[in-house]
Amino acid sequence: MTQDELKHQVALAAIDYIKTLIKPDSIIGVGTGSTANLFIDELAAVKDKFQGAVASSDASAERLKGHGIEVFDLNSVDEIVVYVDGADEANKSLCLIKGGGAALTQEKIVAQVAKQFVCIADESKAVEILGAFPLPVEVIPMARALVGREMVKLGGDPVWREGVVTDNGNQIIDVHGLKITNPEDLEAKINMIPGVVTNGLFAHRAADVLLLSTQEGVKTYS
Ligand code: 5RP
Repeated sequence: MTQDELKHQVALAAIDYIKTLIKPDSIIGVGTGSTANLFIDELAAVKDKFQGAVASSDASAERLKGHGIEVFDLNSVDEIVVYVDGADEANKSLCLIKGGGAALTQEKIVAQVAKQFVCIADESKAVEILGAFPLPVEVIPMARALVGREMVKLGGDPVWREGVVTDNGNQIIDVHGLKITNPEDLEAKINMIPGVVTNGLFAHRAADVLLLSTQEGVKTYS
């Protein structure tokens, strides 16, 4: 199977997984990226089984609406039964690096509200130690240089993702060269830097379930 086929395989597995959780009045959380897009496309087939969705990006909201799935503002929603999203890296503790698609802040917010966070990924995303994928950090534009200098002090090599503006009007710094052995600690330290909106470590709110697509099928970790 190609990587795209692996992503499709896990998108289908996620549909099977959420079918056991959703009810006609359920709101589900939907992530961002190519794997999440495949999930959204498959979600269309079961759209009569839940009420609607909260999206973690404008792009996902548009894709959901294109399939006739109602998109809710998070502020009008009491409960999200399950949040399904991809990842750039996942370790054995189900801590993640996310934000390759620049949607990390809204992803983290929706994940925090969700009762269950199901991460869907192909096997290339599974790692022993997080950090080979550059860690995205969303910053208030005027703080970009300050945050960059602070990231150097934390051992990283920051690179401005030039030309990218997030859905929140901010900028992204990708931090290379980190070997993240304590994701909870680093997540908290980076979030303490003034001007950081959030960073792409999902450790304090890690995934609850990882559906990992392999050549031998989809493996479930929790
Ligand atoms: C977007 C994300 C994505 O989940 C992550 O980048 C994985 O994307 P893909 O499914 O395209 O590999 O965090 O901000």
